[in-house]
Amino acid sequence: MRRIVELRSNFPANSAHAVTRRAQWVSLGIDPADLDRPKVAIVNTSNDLAACFAHLDGLVSVLKDELRALGMLPFEIRTAAPSDFITNAGRGGRYVLPARDLVANDIEVMVEGAQLDAMICLSSCDKTTPAHLMAAGRLNVPAVIVPCGYQRSGLAEGGEADVEEIFLRAAQQALDGKADGSLLELADGAIRGPGVCSGLATANSMHMAAEALGMAVTGSAPVRALSDRMWDGVRRAARAVANLVENDVRPRDIITAASITNAVRTMLAVGGSINTVKHLQAVAVETGLDIDVWEAYRVLGRETPTLCSIRPNGADLIEDLEDAGGAATVLRELLPLLDGDQLTVDGRTLAENAAAARPGDGAVIRGLNDPFSTDPSIVVLRGTLAEHGAVVKRPIPDPGPRRFRGPAKVFHSREEGVAAVAANKIQAGDVAIIRGIGVTGGPAMGMISAFIFALDGRGLASEVAVVTDGQMSGLVNHGIGVGEVSPEAAAGGALGLVKDGDLIEIDLADGRIDLLVDPEVLAARPPFTPREQVETTGLLDQYRATVQPLACGAVLSPRLGPTPGARR
Ligand code: FES
Repeated sequence: MRRIVELRSNFPANSAHAVTRRAQWVSLGIDPADLDRPKVAIVNTSNDLAACFAHLDGLVSVLKDELRALGMLPFEIRTAAPSDFITNAGRGGRYVLPARDLVANDIEVMVEGAQLDAMICLSSCDKTTPAHLMAAGRLNVPAVIVPCGYQRSGLAEGGEADVEEIFLRAAQQALDGKADGSLLELADGAIRGPGVCSGLATANSMHMAAEALGMAVTGSAPVRALSDRMWDGVRRAARAVANLVENDVRPRDIITAASITNAVRTMLAVGGSINTVKHLQAVAVETGLDIDVWEAYRVLGRETPTLCSIRPNGADLIEDLEDAGGAATVLRELLPLLDGDQLTVDGRTLAENAAAARPGDGAVIRGLNDPFSTDPSIVVLRGTLAEHGAVVKRPIPDPGPRRFRGPAKVFHSREEGVAAVAANKIQAGDVAIIRGIGVTGGPAMGMISAFIFALDGRGLASEVAVVTDGQMSGLVNHGIGVGEVSPEAAAGGALGLVKDGDLIEIDLADGRIDLLVDPEVLAARPPFTPREQVETTGLLDQYRATVQPLACGAVLSPRLGPTPGARR
């Protein structure tokens, strides 16, 4: 290949680094004649623990052959590999979010440490794509994200059902005390092949966001794992990274404020996961961009029609979305609202890629003039109860209630809330608050799904609003569920000052959540102190000490860049 830039990996031939590295690599069978080729990391975020990445080793060997044929020298790099349904078992699921930053750090150590020239990242389970994008933005070496595909939907009671749906049903049954052998039968049929969970949850959402950002080749998300389309994307990714190296195109040429905004618009249009808010904010911060992603969701949500209705938010399957053209077709339909001049790893602009995509079918992927809804499925709120932001997920096409006003009932843990439901201490019209479980307080954000199930079991899910600084992802509420309130209670947020009976007003149309208590009264209240601190050691201790607010993506270093929401 023609190379027009100096490679950072080519140390002076007789330098100590070059000589000792040569000794290592020649001993591994690498031809000395190949040592000055561009050195590309194949970031394999996998292990034996989960179906999400069970197929990635097979991609590595194909990619190695492709890259060698393109005149490059590939190296497989393995990182930690979190799976949300495996690594959530210990310490109440608190390893899940820290794993995102752990993977980004793994990549930094291996790619920066070895001074490799570029990387192809095999992205699968929820935290891996944001981690790969964060590392790309941080290291700024030519990089391509490879969405590695979703698993076949499982079978449950004669119909198709994805594993998240089965998990939620199983958890609900367990809470109701109705769990029996049928749960095991459901589990045995839940996953029918490798790949990420098959709904439009975080993994598929982030795969599509990567394509909208321009960091994955066009037409690569969503794809069925191990399908011809996936393999085509893998091979085009190899060619793309070769072109990026040749032309010295780096992530910071591609991940810009405008391309992040394009990704936000795309997530709003498809009804993606609410986790994309914090992950795209983290990508922006790691890339050194001064952009408030939370505010982008809040403002653009009101002017971005919803073009798709995919499970778990709507009725269509992720397979239907792929068959209708996937992200490329969504981007084509959405193009009038996007910045089409943004560069992509294909070497073309977003508009050029969109022009080559097929139009929407008007059914699974609709046009701007005939959307499923003009009410956003992801709503970011701000107000006196969430100065930096909070997020709500709503079903498509019927988004449910838009306003709620009621007295607060405060709980300090999910378990305390569940006990209150069982004791009939929560009534219709209440605003149930579960606080102290944010990124610092949790640490790493507790999930409150058991509390929602408990409300559902009493027929209160659409009668009670829920507000928490923990996570509500994976849940579509029939009522109003406000998650990820920031600043969190443990970081001095107003949520920590709320008392039972305080009036709270939530207005999804205006994007506000307010605590209707006189500021002077609030100022006189004692600061929040956690009822009980979750015992942590090791990584979680380090995480608690270094994690930044959700407003800057919950990244781990205060030195990384601006904290957009915190400036407000
Ligand atoms: Fe990995 Fe769902 S558990 S994508």
